[in-house]
Amino acid sequence: MGNQLRDAAGHRMDSRAHHRPVARDHEQDDERGDETQEGERGFQLGVADRLPYRARAFTLHARTRTQMFSGKANWDEIARAVEALEIPVIGNGDVQTGEDIVRMRDHTRCAGIMIGRGAFGNPWLFRDGRALLEGGPAPATPTAAERFRVALRHARLALRLQGDTRKTVIEFRKHLGWYTKGLHGASELRQRLFQIESIAEAEAIFLTYLGPVAAVA
Ligand SMILES: Cc1cc2nc3c(=O)[nH]c(=O)nc-3n(C[C@H](O)[C@H](O)[C@H](O)COP(=O)(O)O)c2cc1C
Repeated sequence: MGNQLRDAAGHRMDSRAHHRPVARDHEQDDERGDETQEGERGFQLGVADRLPYRARAFTLHARTRTQMFSGKANWDEIARAVEALEIPVIGNGDVQTGEDIVRMRDHTRCAGIMIGRGAFGNPWLFRDGRALLEGGPAPATPTAAERFRVALRHARLALRLQGDTRKTVIEFRKHLGWYTKGLHGASELRQRLFQIESIAEAEAIFLTYLGPVAAVA
């Protein structure tokens, strides 16, 4: 490869990627001559050099295509992207807890963190991460009543957005399952929630779980 970076398809790229994040075309490369030798870190941008516009940020889900969602995301690759690029790099992959948010920041020095599956049934993750990043203590974990309240609010928003139909309710069952993860008796609760035909049924199940004097929404 010499002093030139090449992407997976063998296209020549700007080897000063950490100075100039978006690769230039061949003519521009030729104009720069030997300057392109400076700062090569071996990081291959792949897609970025074929974009028709200048990228302002770069998000990396550090898994290979064959891994899909399994195996461990390679945070070292995110750290390499941070090193190689001047634009903000957003790290992604395997962030499940507030502690993971801090670990990814410390491991990669990324400018931002993108969260996927970790937020399923746990929108408190963002609050937890922010608190820990600011050096504060982790907020208290949400109570069952708080989880149910947010789950129902989420459900009503989904109905509003996607249509108040049986299909929306059926699709939402899995979210209700995620909201109950870790609760005492969660598997039994989940079994019942996976059979609901309306959000009113979910509310009734939550009320039964909490006891006779409870109100969740
Ligand atoms: C339900 C679901 C839908 C997704 N949709 C997209 C998508 O439309 N575009 C995309 O680039 N990535 C998509 N992803 C991938 C996520 O953005 C993310 O890269 C991946 O889930 C890894 O992060 P995580 O370990 O935090 O989940 C999706 C992931 C999930 C679970």
